[in-house]
Order: sequence, then structure tokens, then C-alpha cells
Amino acid sequence: MAWPTKPSATMQVPRRAEPYVTDAMKAAWTKDVLPKYATKLGCLMPILHDVQHAYRHVPYQAQLEIAQFLGIAPSDVLDTVSFYDEFTVEQRGVVTIGVCHSIACEQCGCGSTKLIERVREKLGLLPGETTDDGQVTLITMDCLGSCDTAPVALFNETLHENLTPEAFDRLVEQAAHAKAGGHH
Ligand code: FES
Repeated sequence: MAWPTKPSATMQVPRRAEPYVTDAMKAAWTKDVLPKYATKLGCLMPILHDVQHAYRHVPYQAQLEIAQFLGIAPSDVLDTVSFYDEFTVEQRGVVTIGVCHSIACEQCGCGSTKLIERVREKLGLLPGETTDDGQVTLITMDCLGSCDTAPVALFNETLHENLTPEAFDRLVEQAAHAKAGGHH
């Protein structure tokens, strides 16, 4: 994972009028997250997870709002977002396809390289890219803990195991037409 350099001193954060962190989110976090962790920093991961899930990214404005809510430095939020693959500043597609490319998935069945190649052929995506219509994002992931059913891939939060090229193609096809909010 590369650490991006950040022009912190001069950076202009793009803003929209409506906040990303809603009153409903704040109320839920105050009730369910804050009491569970000893420090405000400890609350950051579940909160980032919620925001990424709600918007399919954690834009800079949202990072500032989270920092303000928790009373922590915006740089702590930025460092966490940039460190974990789960969080992105750019919006991900309606469906994120996460192909495991660790050793078992690489070696078993048709192999993960073949699956990744099929997404390139069908949707023109390389890992890390999103289709122009904002529908599908392709990423590679490290071992998902399901090596005995390799190769595997996540379509949003659903794990698909023992993938064949044909089964994978069908899932990619569904992903290309899935409605926002309807695919988990
Ligand atoms: S190597 Fe893919 S799940 Fe373990």
C-alpha cells in the first residue's frame, strides 16, 4: 500500500452544502459506537465503515465532519482512510467486485488471474478502476479466509466461492445491471 503525498497546507476541500455526516448517523454513533470504545480514535473504524457504506466513498468533506464529530485531528482520519483498502476518497461503483489474488485463489480452479482478465474483457476495467457509468469497481483483495473454496470473490459484501469462469461471468453481468442499494 503506497502512502499518498498530501498537499495539506494548500489543499482545497471540495464541499457540498449538505453534510455527509447526518444527524441520524450522529445519533446512531452516539448510542452504539461511542460507548463501546475507550478512545475517540477507536471509534474511527466503525464510523468510517458506515460512511463508506452509505456513500461508497469517504470524501474529504466527510473526513472533516467525522474529525469534528469525534474531536480528533483531520489528519488522523485522512491517515486511516488512505491506509485501509476498504476506504476510498473516490466513489466506488454500485457494485465492487473484489477478486482475491492471494496464493490459493491464484492457483486453484481457473485461478484469480483469469477472473481479473475476464472483467477487463467484459467491462474494460483494470484493478482499481470504475466503469464510466459508475456501476462497477474492480479491486484485488488479499486472502479472504476462504482458501478451501478458492477461487473466491466478493461482490459488495457477498462472498462467492468455487468460482468458474461461467459463474463469474454471470455475476459480473448482474453487477453491471444492479441497482444502487439493492445489492449487498
Ligand atoms: S487465498 Fe483466496 S481466500 Fe485465501
